[in-house]
Amino acid sequence: MKNLVFTLLLSQIVFVQIGQTGEHPGKVLVDSNCQQCHDNDIYTRSNSILQSYPELQARVEFCENASKAHWNDDQINQVIEYLNDSYYKFPKP
Ligand code: HEC
Repeated sequence: MKNLVFTLLLSQIVFVQIGQTGEHPGKVLVDSNCQQCHDNDIYTRSNSILQSYPELQARVEFCENASKAHWNDDQINQVIEYLNDSYYKFPKP
């Protein structure tokens, strides 16, 4: 019984650490679905077509559709968050 409690505690700690050091879930999605037409350099190009958070949302939805990745709403939102946190830094409306 003691062993079981210890094992559960240990797995909990390992789980929390992976959660903290792991990659952003949105990064994994972008890196595996979004490089057929452009790479990640497009998010930092000087003549970006995006000026605001809603435009970023619309663009990700458009490109997700074009990529045929078939993400659900949670995955789309993770990618919008990831691109905004890492690249665009638009204020959220
Ligand atoms: C079918 C081809 C295609 C795929 C697949 C694709 N994109 Fe795009 N994406 C484009 C094109 C083309 C542009 C540039 C549009 C323009 O310049 O008007 C673009 C532009 C963008 C931009 C705006 C860049 C900027 O700042 O100007 C973002 C953000 C973006 N894509 C995100 C994504 C994401 C996220 C995915 C994966 C779900 C993805 N794209 C997959 C074609 C694609």
